[in-house]
Amino acid sequence: MIYLIGFMGSGKSTIASRLAEKLQCSCIEMDESIEKQEGLTIPEMFAQHGESYFREKERDFLRSLEGEAVVSTGGGVILSKENCEMMREGTVIYLHAGWETIVHRLKNDTSRPLWSGDESEKKQRFEDRLRLYKEAAHHVVVVDDKAPEVIAEEIAARL
Ligand code: S3P
Repeated sequence: MIYLIGFMGSGKSTIASRLAEKLQCSCIEMDESIEKQEGLTIPEMFAQHGESYFREKERDFLRSLEGEAVVSTGGGVILSKENCEMMREGTVIYLHAGWETIVHRLKNDTSRPLWSGDESEKKQRFEDRLRLYKEAAHHVVVVDDKAPEVIAEEIAARL
């Protein structure tokens, strides 16, 4: 299993689908799968049941995975040590986008409950997570200005 991790807006979904095509395996989009299972969007889940409920669903979903696929994870998957341990049984790739890139990409985004609050809160969340992404990953790929195809190629070359 190959897990793509990284902050919101780092391009995990786009790159996962390119990489899966390249490797000719399936692509699993975690957030979308959990939304389907629950019959709720992520903002609805957060609003109705709270963040901890969503985190439980993330953990259950990771536990249920088997076989070979490229998995695009949610940005907060690394908040749980147990999740990190599960993922490290496969290969974990951290897509690192700098703060400026993230802000530019998410500037009009209203679909992510944790991309909220003022700028300093968002930046704090980004900085707090950097270490967790690095610790969880087998490989770090800097994504900033690169095309998805180039990034997928770079990852494939490292596997
Ligand atoms: C989250 C990121 C989101 C989604 C949820 C929580 C986070 O996924 O799982 O809103 O904690 O960073 P993306 O990274 O795909 O935006």
